Amino acid sequence: MSTQPKWEELSSPIEMRGVTFKNRMMRSGMYEGMATERGEVTPELEDWIARQAAGGAACIFPGYTNVCLPRCMPYQAGSYSDSHIPGLTKLAEIIHSHGAVAGLQLAAAGRQANPNLFFSDAEAVMGPSAMGPSPLYQAACREMTEAEIWQAVEDQAAAAARAKEAGFDIVLPNAAHGYMLAQFLSPHTNMRTDAWGGTPEKRFKFFEETFRAVREAVGPEMLVWTKISVEEPWDDGINLDEAKIFIPEVAKLVDAIEISGGTIVDNVFMMTRGEIPIGTLRKGIGGSVEGISAELVDVLYGIRDSVKFEEAYWYDHALALKPLCGDTPLILTGGHKYPATMNQIIKEGTADMLSLARVLAAEPDFPNEVVAGREDPGKCSSCNKCLVEVVLGNKLQCFLPEPGYTHA
Ligand SMILES: Cc1cc2nc3c(=O)[nH]c(=O)nc-3n(C[C@H](O)[C@H](O)[C@H](O)COP(=O)(O)O)c2cc1C
Ligand code: SF4
Repeated sequence: MSTQPKWEELSSPIEMRGVTFKNRMMRSGMYEGMATERGEVTPELEDWIARQAAGGAACIFPGYTNVCLPRCMPYQAGSYSDSHIPGLTKLAEIIHSHGAVAGLQLAAAGRQANPNLFFSDAEAVMGPSAMGPSPLYQAACREMTEAEIWQAVEDQAAAAARAKEAGFDIVLPNAAHGYMLAQFLSPHTNMRTDAWGGTPEKRFKFFEETFRAVREAVGPEMLVWTKISVEEPWDDGINLDEAKIFIPEVAKLVDAIEISGGTIVDNVFMMTRGEIPIGTLRKGIGGSVEGISAELVDVLYGIRDSVKFEEAYWYDHALALKPLCGDTPLILTGGHKYPATMNQIIKEGTADMLSLARVLAAEPDFPNEVVAGREDPGKCSSCNKCLVEVVLGNKLQCFLPEPGYTHA
C-alpha cells in the first residue's frame, strides 16, 4: 500500500529541462576550505560531499569555485584551470552516485579578494570601481579596465565549460554575496560612468555578457542557474526595489534563480542570520590565524540585532519577486529548518525549491528524514561558528555538541 508522504509538496519531484530533481530540497553552496592551495579537490572534500549527498537532498552544490585568482578565501576549490577538471569530475560522480543532481558554483572575488593569500597580490584586488579598504581584509580595490572586464567574462565562460566537461548538470555563476557579478549590479560598488555602470541597465551589462558567454560555452542543453543578492548592507546597495528591476531580466537568461543577500567582506551575517561569535573572531580560532581588527569588532556589535535568526528570512523577498520570474523557477535559501513551513512555502508556490546550508552541515540526513515525515526542526542553532571558522581559513565543520558529521 503506498502512502502519501507527510510533506507531500516538499517531497515531490520537479523537472527542469529534462533533469529530474527527486524532491524540493537542495544543498546550497557551502565553502568547505578543504581543497589544496592550488584549488584541487582532496579526499577529505570528496568525503564531505559524499556525506552531504547521501543525506537525500535532490541537488548538491559544493562550495563555490574560483574562476580566477586572486581568491576570497584559502583552500577553496578552483575552476580556473584544466588541472581542476579531474577533481571536479570526481565530485560530480560522487553526487550522481547518490541519485542527486550535481551543480557547480562559479565566482570571481573582485574587491572581496584577500591579497594575503597564496598566489595573490594587492594589485590584483580589483572591482568595477576603486574603493577603500574592505572591512574584513582591509584591502582596497582598484578599478578594472575594459580589457579586464572582458577577461572576467571569459573566465566565467571557461570555468563553465570545465564544469560541463567534469559532468555537472548545472552551472551557477554566483551573483550573490558581494562577488564580482554582484559588484557590477550594485550601485554601492559600481560607480562607473561608462557602458558598464551609471544606470540599472548599464550595471546589468556585465551580468548579461557573462551569462551569454556562459550559455555559449556550455551549449543549449545544460542548466544555467544563478544565485543573486536581493539585499545588501548599504542604503545605496541592492535592495528589494533594485531587485524588482533586474529579476525579470535575470529570468530571461537563466533556468532558475536562487535568491539570497549580504556580502562576505562587509556583513556576512546578513547572509547567514543568527549569532555573531564575536569572542571567537576576536581570538582567532584555535590560535591558528590572526583575530579580526578592533574596528570590525565594533561594526559587528553594531549590527548584532539586525541579523537575528528568523525562519525563512528571505521569504518576503521571494513573495515579492516570484511573480516577476515568469516561468523561471525561484529557489529560496536562508533559515529553512521547520518542515511544516518548508512544505507550506512549496505548496503555496512562493518558491519552487528550497536551498539548505547550515542545517545540512549539522545534520546531513535532514532531507531523507523530512521526506520520511520528520516534524522536528533541524538542530542547527544558527550559532555561525562554522561560518567564522571558514572565513578565518579553517575547515568546515559543525560545532553542535553532537554534530551529524565531523571530519577528523
Ligand atoms: C560555512 C558557510 C559557507 C558558505 N559558502 C557559500 C558558498 O560557497 N556559496 C554560496 O552561494 N553561499 C555560501 N554560503 C551561504 C549558504 O549557501 C546559504 O545561502 C546561507 O547559509 C543560508 O542558508 P542556511 O540558513 O540554510 O544556512 C555559506 C554559508 C556557510 C554557513
Ligand atoms: S556550527 Fe553547526 S549549529 Fe552552528 S551554525 Fe554552523 S551548522 Fe549550525
